[in-house]
Amino acid sequence: IPVDVFDLVVFGGTGDLAQRKIIPGLYRRYWGGHIPPESNIIGAARSELDDMGYRALAREAIAEYVSEDKRDPEVIEAFLARLSYVAIDAKGTDGWDVLKTRVRKGTVQAFYFSVAPSLFGDLAERLHLHEIANAESRIVVEKPFGRDLESAKALNAVLAQHFTEAQIYRIDHYLGKETVQNLMAVRFANILFEPLWKSEYVDHVQITVAETVSVDGRGSYYDRAGAMRDMVQNHMMQLLCLIAMEPPYHFDPDAVRDEKLKVIRALDPVLPDDIVRGQYQAGNGQGGYLEHCEDPASKTESYIALKVHISNWRWKGTPFYLRTGKRLRARTSEIAITFREPPHSIFDDAEGWRENVLVIRLQPNEGMNLKVMIKEPGPGGMRLTQVPLDMSFAEALGESGTDIPDAYERLIMDVIRGNQTLFMRGDEVEAAWGWTDPIIEGWEKRGDKPMPYDAGSSGPEDALMLMHRDGRRWREIR
Ligand code: BG6
Repeated sequence: IPVDVFDLVVFGGTGDLAQRKIIPGLYRRYWGGHIPPESNIIGAARSELDDMGYRALAREAIAEYVSEDKRDPEVIEAFLARLSYVAIDAKGTDGWDVLKTRVRKGTVQAFYFSVAPSLFGDLAERLHLHEIANAESRIVVEKPFGRDLESAKALNAVLAQHFTEAQIYRIDHYLGKETVQNLMAVRFANILFEPLWKSEYVDHVQITVAETVSVDGRGSYYDRAGAMRDMVQNHMMQLLCLIAMEPPYHFDPDAVRDEKLKVIRALDPVLPDDIVRGQYQAGNGQGGYLEHCEDPASKTESYIALKVHISNWRWKGTPFYLRTGKRLRARTSEIAITFREPPHSIFDDAEGWRENVLVIRLQPNEGMNLKVMIKEPGPGGMRLTQVPLDMSFAEALGESGTDIPDAYERLIMDVIRGNQTLFMRGDEVEAAWGWTDPIIEGWEKRGDKPMPYDAGSSGPEDALMLMHRDGRRWREIR
């Protein structure tokens, strides 16, 4: 369904995110007929560029990041004609009057702050000072949303001086991923899983986001963040919430976000023994972390595994094991729910028995796999074997299952529609930092060093122990 006509101003419009995600994403929606042709996209940044220069930059971004089947020269030219550029001084007065003439009154207005968080306050203030934004305008902000509770509170406060919560769209791009949204569909549109979705029936949950990329090229940001701030406080936390939350009364922004918030508030502090941090070292022909960051003695983790408990009625007694890391053996993100043993076995073949596991593959090869027990075929009596009920979304859904829109495309269209369901609310972000801070402070105070692991491996050995000692095993990363 096409959105309303809009004016979108992208602050940081010449930056990396604009080139890799925002411009290509908008182009794909334009190509798909979801963006009315009267809409305008205005890049705003420090560089002295004119409209033609900005269009040239956008043309290159489309050539590089949009697949060939969607690159139609006529559509590209029509799209580029909707782009313009304003050179702007975020901390001064230059450019703001020009910007004011570009943003139409009466259309949906959105301002994307694709800039360092230290500029959020300046931008918000100037949008009002120059009477560009109004009570209907929306602003979009990106992670990192603070680096601890205190800084997140300060950012929320600065934005709240000029915008209401209903105007603020905090992006966590994991929520824009098709398969992440599918978690809610699987849970709440089927009767099948929900009755079993509790500690009585679920032995444990594993959430894995494994990446093969290194931190090369963004070492200075990453070294100040580490896997806990970069991935766990936001993306992994969102996955955990979607798996653990109670059914919201409606698929509605505050109903969904209220339920997620309750999960975050119910998280127990994590014990030092339930945390394994790792840092990749050279291996399998790939360089080590310390070559990619500025501090040769850095103790930043490029890998983390945690055992997390949720103290509420539904989940008490079911651990959630989380792990994420860079430079691992394979790129794979999945959630695996392992169910408990049946209360009593009527079969003698105890050896053949395995737990039921529901695996939701988020990327790549999006799909679901439910491991169930059946009788092994043949005359050998009642012997049990486990088989997968395997569904790849691409196969099940045909073309619509392979043409998965990029997370940013979906989220930017939601901003224009005014739908905040897939965006983080201020209190949610603060609660997530409230849980994260003591964990980080704990290892900083203890002076813990991350365990080395080889680039291209499955992570540090100690992470295996985290599960072994509970009589459980990580799923293989492949
Ligand atoms: C980003 C992190 O938010 O998410 C990166 O800063 C990480 O470090 C990326 O690589 C992962 O996103 P995706 O969509 O590739 O799984």
